[in-house]
Order: sequence, then structure tokens, then C-alpha cells
Amino acid sequence: MKGLVLAGGTGSRLWPITQGTSKQLLSVYDKPLIYYPISTLMLAGIREIVIVTTPEEQPAFKRLLGDGSKFGITFHYEQQPTPAGLAQVFTICEEHIAGEKCALILGDNLFHGPSLGTRLHQFTEIDGAQIFAYHVANPQRYGVVEFNESCEILSIEEKPASPKSNFAITGLYFFDENVLDFAQGLKPSARGELEIGDIHNEYLKRGKLQLEQLPRGTAWLDTGTVNSLHDATSYIRTVQERQGMKVACPEEIAYRNGWITRAELLESAESFRGGEYGLYLKAVADGH
Ligand code: DAU
Repeated sequence: MKGLVLAGGTGSRLWPITQGTSKQLLSVYDKPLIYYPISTLMLAGIREIVIVTTPEEQPAFKRLLGDGSKFGITFHYEQQPTPAGLAQVFTICEEHIAGEKCALILGDNLFHGPSLGTRLHQFTEIDGAQIFAYHVANPQRYGVVEFNESCEILSIEEKPASPKSNFAITGLYFFDENVLDFAQGLKPSARGELEIGDIHNEYLKRGKLQLEQLPRGTAWLDTGTVNSLHDATSYIRTVQERQGMKVACPEEIAYRNGWITRAELLESAESFRGGEYGLYLKAVADGH
């Protein structure tokens, strides 16, 4: 399965912060935001990931992430010239996903919760498509899904003024090989975007869209506004300080998955020249 991280967009709700850099490169406590969605895909067992960015920002992402070898994985890079909608990602990544299943994660979505990785592993063999519902206080800001007690989906609406439920659709989706066909047939919506909801509805019509409700103990944070970015930073700081373990440290995930050796982890640790992140990697290598 291929992983796709959509990290384009203008980040306009964060201006002026994002007028000089990309939102997904901003810090969430001690790491760039994009480390969190990348880590989620790695925890699902995905080792080949396409990073989709604006053309202007691509060099900065390449500088940060490289070819992926330091995380024991492979990164490919593609460009989205304008933010024409989430569903455009599939045709942009056509050569990577033709005939293959894929997982899409939005570059500003942060997931943290018990056995997230183990649970996500099962979707790498998906037949159809998978979305995740999360109870939120303000569903109007999201894609909203209405479903019954057996998790059968009744409706999907993007940012409805009168939401039919409190369940937002999170920015993590798994698709089988058919997604590219559906994406190629899409037309822009009334707001001029290629909508991910239209892809979901194609699967829904065929009885192939599955839903799972993320458990209450899971944290799903998005970082679209100054306040939500600040909340995400506070959350990560609180959890990390308490546990003495990092959330979404790709080198650690790679090492624990056996994708990089201890020598490679130590080499990474050295590259941080005594900084706090490097000391943490050294401690992981030493078995702490
Ligand atoms: O975060 C989950 C929500 O993400 C879902 O509940 C919604 O159904 C889904 O439409 C999306 O809503 P957003 O309002 O967050 O979408 P936004 O347009 O802000 O895009 C999300 C991220 O994707 C953002 O970081 C920018 C990036 N993006 C967006 C578009 C439209 C791109 O890279 N390219 C694009 O064309």
C-alpha cells in the first residue's frame, strides 16, 4: 500500500505565519507538523509515501525529509499547482497508485491514541474504502457523517450548516485500487473543488464504504487555526513531559519496526549535535 500525505494549500487562516513557509512545516512542540501524519502512516506499516506540496515549498520539504532513508522508508514528491481540492491528490499521484491500494492523510492532521498503529494495520488489505468518525463539539467545521448503531452510513455532508450528527470525518482515509477511476471521473463542486466527499459517495453507492468510530481515548487534533495549533503543541508537550517518551518520532518508529539498525539510529542521533531530539534518539538506541 502507498501512503499519500497532502501538504499543499495556502494556510490562509494562519497568515501571516504561513506567508513565508508552509503550514505543515510549522512546529508542533518539538517537531515539524508533518512528522505527525507521516508517523501515523508508518505505524500502519506503510513504507512508501508520496508527499504532495505546493511547487514553491517542495524544496523545503525535500530538505527536511530527504529520500526517507533516515526513517527506513521511501519518500516520493509531487506538486499540486493550486489547491483545487483534496480529491485531486489521486490524479496527481496517478503513477504511484495505479493498480494499488492507498492511504491518504492530510498533512495537518494529528492522531494519537492507544494501539493506533495495530488497529490501522488491518486496513492495508482494504476492499472498498475506510473512513473514521470522531465526536467533536463543532461539527460544522468538518465533513460530517451520520450513521446508525451498526455503523451503516446514512449520509455524508461537507461543512453542513445544520449537521445531522456530531461526528466529523477525520483526515485519514484508506482506499482500494478503484480510487483512481473514481477520481478521474470527478467534476469540481459548486465551490470549485474536487471533493473527497464525492469519492466517498461513489464507494457508498456501491456498498463499499466502511466506517469506524475512533475510541473516545484517541486524540485527533487538526491545526488549521492559531488556537488549534497552540492546543496541539500544549497537548504534545503535556504527554511527552509526563511520559518521557516522544509522540510521532519517525526515527523511533522506524527502529522499533526494525526498518533501521541501531547503528543508523545512532548516526541520526549524532546528526543533531547534542540537541534534545538527538539525546532522545540516543536514549532509544540504548534501550530506554
Ligand atoms: O481535517 C479533517 C477535514 O479535512 C475533514 O473533516 C473534511 O471533510 C475535509 O474536507 C477537510 O476539511 P478542511 O476544512 O480541513 O480542508 P482544507 O481545505 O482546510 O484542507 C485540509 C488540508 O489539506 C490543508 O492543510 C491544506 C491541504 N490542502 C487542501 C486543499 C483543498 C491541499 O494540500 N490541497 C488542496 O487542494
